[in-house]
Amino acid sequence: MGYTLLIRHCGQLLTMADTGRAGSPLTGSRLRDWHSIPNGYVACKQDRIVALGPMAELDESLVTAATQIVEARGRVVMPGLVECHTHLVFGGNRAAEFQRKLQGESYLDILASGGGILSTVRATRAASDAQLLENALHHLAGFRRYGVTTLEAKTGYGLDAATELRLLQTAREAGRQQPVRVVSTFLGAHVPGPEYAGRPAAYLDMLAAEVLPRLDPTEVPFVDIFCEQGAFSVADARRYLTRARELGFGLKIHAEQLHDLGGCEMAAGLGAVSLDHCDYLTPTAAARIAALTGGRTVAVLLPLVPLFLRQEQYAPGRQLIDAGLPVAISTDFNPGSCPTKNLWLALSVACLKMGLTPREALAAVTLNAAWAIGQQQECGSLEPGKRADVLVLDVPTPEEIPYWLGENPVRHVIIGGQVQAS
Ligand code: NIG
Ligand code: FE
Repeated sequence: MGYTLLIRHCGQLLTMADTGRAGSPLTGSRLRDWHSIPNGYVACKQDRIVALGPMAELDESLVTAATQIVEARGRVVMPGLVECHTHLVFGGNRAAEFQRKLQGESYLDILASGGGILSTVRATRAASDAQLLENALHHLAGFRRYGVTTLEAKTGYGLDAATELRLLQTAREAGRQQPVRVVSTFLGAHVPGPEYAGRPAAYLDMLAAEVLPRLDPTEVPFVDIFCEQGAFSVADARRYLTRARELGFGLKIHAEQLHDLGGCEMAAGLGAVSLDHCDYLTPTAAARIAALTGGRTVAVLLPLVPLFLRQEQYAPGRQLIDAGLPVAISTDFNPGSCPTKNLWLALSVACLKMGLTPREALAAVTLNAAWAIGQQQECGSLEPGKRADVLVLDVPTPEEIPYWLGENPVRHVIIGGQVQAS
């Protein structure tokens, strides 16, 4: 059988395929040294990539009248974006709090006054299933237009057993109803539910007893927790994550976002797949984490969050890379600390404020982001056998991607071998 889809004459084909040590996320120079092929092609059969390389090596006998052709002359072609940290499902929005923030109130002050995450919890609990699903589908369509082909979706705006389970169902249903693949994370431990105010440990005990045992790690592969003042302490987070690990879940943590509490190192010690935020993570701790984990735990950098929170502390991305940590980049899409779906903007700001090079930042939104959600076998690079998730961009070189600040360079989005209508 011939190819079902051929993307040909690709000006520059960024495969992101790892040239070095396979079987671990990209660290150090591997973050920059991925393959790029001038005048290349990508050939697919149904939902899989079956061949790629320079045009001179294309097997024309497999190009038939039934092969759909995408011309990519002069354009960058790269893997679909992997968005590895979003809070996809929520009700309402926090535009009113944006005004308070502009007048000088801090994120934690707003949370302590019953706003912030808790105001989204009220709106989410009040929303119908249909409304939550409609919102999630709307946001997924937006992500798809930006070239996101796989997306992690956290719960965390229910904060009681029933609503948290409802949010997982919404994410699953949203994944079924449109092409972007959705990977679920349980973030019931976002902050203590309002019924447990001042009793964070009791709230975590409730989650561990009543919710975690009802989840199937093959459907909800990760458990996450927000370790921060006003949320959960390192000691409480350690107990909860340890229990989640015993039940077979992969671990994630929101840590070192607003203070250096040591949550990242604790979670890395438990074998977490990712450490997210890291704005206050020190290079010394990063070096210890890299040694402890053998570079397997990914630091997920969220550069648009400090920008949106008016906090001038950005994760020291350059130093984290130099310390040996693999890094990924995400928007952290959520109604409070980052209501944008523009992962390209996050990539640019990672270069501007965290010291990443454009090549490192591209690896951080593709292959390393796939590692951060355990999807490295499926997506994140263009390689035979992987899903045919491919972007054709309206730029001629990878260096131009972060340069056109805030633009969406996407011309075509291909998901599972299907060219998406724009
Ligand atoms: O990743 N830091 C904690 N959680 C989210 C924000 C949630 C919210 O403010 O609604 C984050 O930034
Ligand atoms: Fe988050």
